[in-house]
Amino acid sequence: MCYNKLMKTYIVGNWKLNFTVGEASIYLHKLLKAMPNYRDIDVIVAPSTIALQPLSLQVDRHKIKLAAQNGFYRDYGAFTGETSFSQLRGIVDYAIIGHSERRYIFREDDKMVMRKVAAAIRNKITPILCIGETESERTFGETADVIRDQLSGGLSEVGDDDIDKVIIAYEPVWAISSAKSAKLATPDEVADAVALIRKTLKDLYGKAGENVPVLFGGSVNPSNAGAYLTVPGVNGLLVGGSSLILSEFVDIIETAKRVR
Ligand code: 13P
Repeated sequence: MCYNKLMKTYIVGNWKLNFTVGEASIYLHKLLKAMPNYRDIDVIVAPSTIALQPLSLQVDRHKIKLAAQNGFYRDYGAFTGETSFSQLRGIVDYAIIGHSERRYIFREDDKMVMRKVAAAIRNKITPILCIGETESERTFGETADVIRDQLSGGLSEVGDDDIDKVIIAYEPVWAISSAKSAKLATPDEVADAVALIRKTLKDLYGKAGENVPVLFGGSVNPSNAGAYLTVPGVNGLLVGGSSLILSEFVDIIETAKRVR
């Protein structure tokens, strides 16, 4: 059994707004069949909220874990249309929080992200906190400030005792495949950002901050997964478009087994 979180590799498929419940169930069935049980790799998929409950009855949690793509920070009340982390408790093990699509399309700010991170932890769900700069922030030399601000903002309700319950995902917005002029991040660019994330975590939490897994996301596919997985300080990948194609997602998982 691998107890060191940093020796584990996390491969997360963010399905975004894709697949009906039926399609998601068929995909999961095929993925379970195609995948051996790799002890040191946590394979996680994030379907739409509506598919989570039925998939939680179907999934073999030894092989694959479920993540929510979002959740609301209050447990109950007059919040039409929302799903709380207390409702997701027991159904998912992880939740993606602060994804750039939530920040920029749905106007979630660091305060909202911070509350969601705290609510996930309170409900025994591991937050995968997404941070990353936009293209113009990078152009204007603001990358380091954005990373530090989003990290310290998103974690501001997380105390020293809980930082080991958090995963960080670095997703530069300009590298996400749906961006208008998406560019591939180079392994060196990823290495620089991840080093800054690790330094910030250490500044905020000391030794405890050193054990936080850091993932990379942004146009990851089978041909570049190996390069990103071998960037120092990277513990896994957050995959969008390529995770929708079963053969590609399996290929990425197998690459992780090979290179890590
Ligand atoms: P792509 O892999 O399609 O670039 O999406 C990345 C992402 O946003 C995952 O959360």
